[in-house]
Amino acid sequence: MMQKKIKTIGAVLLAGSFFLATHSIAATAYDEGTYGPEAPITWDKPTKVTFSHKVHTMDSGLACDACHDGLFTMESGAILATGKMTMAAMAEGKFCGSCHDGNTAFATNTKCASCHKDVKELTPKDPIVWTNPAKAVVFYHKAHTEGLGLECDACHDSTFAMQKGAAGKAGNFTMQALYEGKYCGKCHDGSTAFASNTRCNTCHIGVKGYNRMMGNDGAHGATHKDTKAGH
Ligand code: HEC
Ligand code: HEC
Ligand code: HEC
Ligand code: HEC
Ligand code: HEC
Ligand code: HEC
Repeated sequence: MMQKKIKTIGAVLLAGSFFLATHSIAATAYDEGTYGPEAPITWDKPTKVTFSHKVHTMDSGLACDACHDGLFTMESGAILATGKMTMAAMAEGKFCGSCHDGNTAFATNTKCASCHKDVKELTPKDPIVWTNPAKAVVFYHKAHTEGLGLECDACHDSTFAMQKGAAGKAGNFTMQALYEGKYCGKCHDGSTAFASNTRCNTCHIGVKGYNRMMGNDGAHGATHKDTKAGH
């Protein structure tokens, strides 16, 4: 169990309070020797993420080697350079996900804004379009997040992976699944949002709508996108 792996800094805290008792001037200062760097570690690729030592050591009582035993090196930016620290990897229990699994600490598919300072920045701008089995269904992030004020984890809990096409590959992305309350049907059930067996054309834009969307997609007709042959 993860819990066992976590070493606390009780002994260090004791030493710390002795230190504070005898050196009262230092009482209000953050002690980097005990708690690690005071300035948050920030990563900016591909997104802006902040990690605070204070939260993990001073507030949560984790010892340095809970993380600096192979999980992370003491070199800001090193992990980013590997390119391996992705949401998908964390969901598999790697990196931050070794604790942020919904058990030791809140899971990485919740509370996006606690790690990401700007969730808007992460929101896909282009519509998500599915063409299989029905061509085509469209989903607009902006309408659901900015328009309706839904949080990212309303869908990126376990309803949808954060990867275009994932639901399509799962093999059961069908109207039947929607009627059973899965995928879009989690909300499109006639109670939270209009039911999946109504207003077909709101989600289904058809082949014509699809072609129109692809045609208008690129700027000023300079693309290779599907257009009607022999126009
Ligand atoms: C919960 C995990 C965690 C704990 C506990 C932790 N650290 Fe870190 N530490 C990190 C991460 C993440 C980084 C950044 C690594 C990277 O960017 O590759 C880091 C980086 C550092 C750095 C480099 C800072 C820089 O600017 O280059 C130092 C020094 C450091 N930690 C010291 C400590 C000390 C001392 C402790 C114990 C008091 C500690 N850490 C506890 C996760 C942790
Ligand atoms: C425990 C911290 C944490 C939480 C919670 C978290 N993320 Fe992340 N996220 C990261 C880290 C770390 C990275 C990789 C480094 C970077 O992008 O700077 C990342 C990367 C990403 C990326 C870039 C592409 C990818 O898949 O890696 C997206 C998009 C993203 N997060 C969205 C989200 C959303 C949406 C949520 C909530 C459902 C969320 N994150 C919750 C820490 C977190
Ligand atoms: C060794 C275990 C461990 C690791 C690894 C770890 N965390 Fe945490 N983290 C915790 C615990 C424990 C808490 C406090 C309990 C909670 O909030 O669920 C916490 C809390 C947080 C919080 C909440 C801060 C607040 O303001 O309340 C953020 C943000 C966070 N972690 C980000 C990260 C990121 C980003 C990483 C990866 C770079 C990471 N953590 C890695 C254990 C860990
Ligand atoms: C109402 C549901 C819903 C909400 C809310 C939502 N998403 Fe999504 N998101 C989706 C769906 C559906 C997909 C596509 C999944 C698939 O094709 O399997 C997706 C895919 C993504 C992708 C991958 C895009 C790509 O090109 O691969 C990212 C990144 C993403 N979402 C980020 C976010 C962020 C950040 C938020 C919050 C600001 C958010 N989402 C809120 C439903 C939602
Ligand atoms: C909330 C959005 C939504 C609504 C409303 C909706 N659909 Fe769908 N539909 C989907 C999604 C998502 C798929 C799976 C992806 C794809 O086929 O492109 C799908 C797939 C289908 C398929 C392919 C085969 C199957 O059974 O899954 C048919 C046929 C279909 N829909 C017909 C309809 C009809 C008829 C209506 C109205 C009575 C309707 N849909 C309303 C989202 C919706
Ligand atoms: C977390 C809840 C939730 C999920 C999941 C969800 N929606 Fe919605 N959606 C809503 C709400 C709420 C509304 C607005 C209420 C209404 O119109 O009944 C809405 C409105 C819409 C609209 C009309 C607004 C617009 O964008 O033009 C479409 C189309 C739509 N959803 C498609 C989808 C599709 C396709 C999926 C699955 C890929 C999906 N939604 C998943 C909550 C959700």
